[in-house]
Amino acid sequence: MKEKIREIERQALAEAASADNRDAIEVLRVKYLGRKGAITELFKKMAEVPAAEKAEAGILLNSLKNKVASALEEKSRSASVSEEEPGEKIDITLPGIAPRLGRVHPVIKTIYEICDIFVSLGFRVVEGPEIETERYNFETLNIPLEHPSRDAFDTFYLKPANPQTRKPLLRSHTSPVQTRFMEKNKPPFSIVVPGKVFRPDATDASHSFQFHQVEGLAVGDNIRFSDLKGLLSTFAKQMFGPNTRMRFRPSFFPFTEPSAEVDISCVICGGDSNEQRTTNDERQKCSVCGGKGWLEILGAGMVNPKVFGHVGYDPEKVTGLAFGMGVERIAMLKYGINDIRFFFENDERFLRQF
Ligand code: DAH
Repeated sequence: MKEKIREIERQALAEAASADNRDAIEVLRVKYLGRKGAITELFKKMAEVPAAEKAEAGILLNSLKNKVASALEEKSRSASVSEEEPGEKIDITLPGIAPRLGRVHPVIKTIYEICDIFVSLGFRVVEGPEIETERYNFETLNIPLEHPSRDAFDTFYLKPANPQTRKPLLRSHTSPVQTRFMEKNKPPFSIVVPGKVFRPDATDASHSFQFHQVEGLAVGDNIRFSDLKGLLSTFAKQMFGPNTRMRFRPSFFPFTEPSAEVDISCVICGGDSNEQRTTNDERQKCSVCGGKGWLEILGAGMVNPKVFGHVGYDPEKVTGLAFGMGVERIAMLKYGINDIRFFFENDERFLRQF
């Protein structure tokens, strides 16, 4: 047995030393260590070795097995770095695997488009916190605690760090950034404020508990309602095309006086101006405006003097215009999207289109 072991050791290590590719190494592994390999066969013969020699033979045989296994392993490690698989050629003319590129989300893209228009008109972009206090979300905006208009801006409340203090909340509009900014800056200025807002609304095709707004605020010596109209009409034409018309409807917001809701002529049927429209019936069928010919796009007004009072401005000296719009709504109208949930489902088939 000992003889046999020594002989196989000499032979196997010599063969391993001269094996120079992976196939040859694999052949040797099968020849010596495989199920019917020479070393495996010796293990089977151990049963026949006389009891007196068994222990020594066992030690020699195990060490043979380890030596051969590690010699082959060592070889295959150096072979795999130095050697190209036979028959494997790298075809550098094959097209590569294109990495999938990310892109700007349609909501963010729309925020950029809106802000770009106002920046070109002299506004600058400012941001504020998503976690707000009642003071900024409501009080400084002239929305008193028990006032019914507070319902329209209801939101999610958070646990206060200290139970004695008032609850922080998720802002329900971007308007709080108006008074935050005014407290720290002197007029004149013009700002737009993009950001995320939250409302405890049930989700459906046109509502989401989280969406985005862009707020606008310009304060100065002699800012007039006509400035508001000119500004928003320029915005509407740049955003929705040069033929877009605009109308103001009287409305109410606690932080503006007077207040208006602003509509644009329907982006699909064109409202009254659509010369292709032959009958009134045809306009009735418009699925976007429902035949009204107008689409609401934002709320606006002249800053309420009470808001100026909250931030220490003299309402006798300054005037201001303000507006706020829903980003998803603008994007839906501009790109013909009929369900707000598409923005938040992360479905690439939707996102890829922008
Ligand atoms: N904050 C209002 C909302 O979320 C939108 C708004 C209306 C903002 C009129 C304004 C404004 O600045 O003047 O519904």
